[in-house]
Amino acid sequence: MGKIYPSLSEEHKSAVDQAKGELRAFITEKQCAPLVLRLAFHSAGTFDVNTKTGGPFGTMKLKSEQNHGPNVGLDTAVELLEPIKQKFPLVSYGDFYMMAGIVAVESTGGPQITFNPGRTDLDAPPPEGRLPLPNQGPDQLRNVFVNTMGLTDQDIVALSGAHTLGSTHKERSGQDGSWTSNPMVFDNSYFKELLAGEKAGLIQLTSDKALVEDPAFRPLVEKFAADQNAFFQAFAESYLKLSELG
Ligand code: HEM
Repeated sequence: MGKIYPSLSEEHKSAVDQAKGELRAFITEKQCAPLVLRLAFHSAGTFDVNTKTGGPFGTMKLKSEQNHGPNVGLDTAVELLEPIKQKFPLVSYGDFYMMAGIVAVESTGGPQITFNPGRTDLDAPPPEGRLPLPNQGPDQLRNVFVNTMGLTDQDIVALSGAHTLGSTHKERSGQDGSWTSNPMVFDNSYFKELLAGEKAGLIQLTSDKALVEDPAFRPLVEKFAADQNAFFQAFAESYLKLSELG
């Protein structure tokens, strides 16, 4: 398994900072924050706390992992970011993708998120089948996030707020639509839309609706819909945990 946080040389730390700056400029220019945030989630979300395998260790750069069903379209994200990655050989792919997710959030108006570099890349992909599927309810969310990744109910709801950004695409997931009317802005509108129910022009996956249907998830949706600061704080904490799985 990959290792996290050895102490880094000054040269290495400076490469991480420079890579973050270039990512910020690039993601803003290309307007690709949603795709990049999805890349970061799918990189880390394969962690299995029971076997200590998977997780944010750069394996998404491998075609074999990009070819896993839920990763459809992420080959584009890897290709888009690759020219920047090539400039920073000291920065691991694991660090690079998790940092890109942070930049995606910060550059679209979301919270500042702590980032600790030092992941060592692995050279084989995790087994397929660990990421959540869109057509399932609360049980699979807990199975994936709690039993497998080792996270909590609050992490599930907070991290799902990432769907404030971006869209589903017919050629990827079979349906077209965004969750909010401002899909390039990171705010708490995902939770407001969930509580408002289905609306023409906007999308809610079965896995999104699970958050308002489940008695333990729903109060968190209500809290985040009413209080954007509470959402931002919870998202920043949960993303940090996600990025440090393993
Ligand atoms: C809770 C379980 C989740 C399920 C079942 C799920 C499923 C999906 C699906 C089906 C899409 C559409 C892909 C496409 O058609 O292009 C999508 C997009 C997206 N997901 Fe999730 N997701 C989940 C959680 C998350 C989490 C935790 C994050 C980040 C922390 C995230 C970030 C995103 C983003 C930003 C997009 C938009 C991508 C774009 O616009 O290209 N998702 N997700």
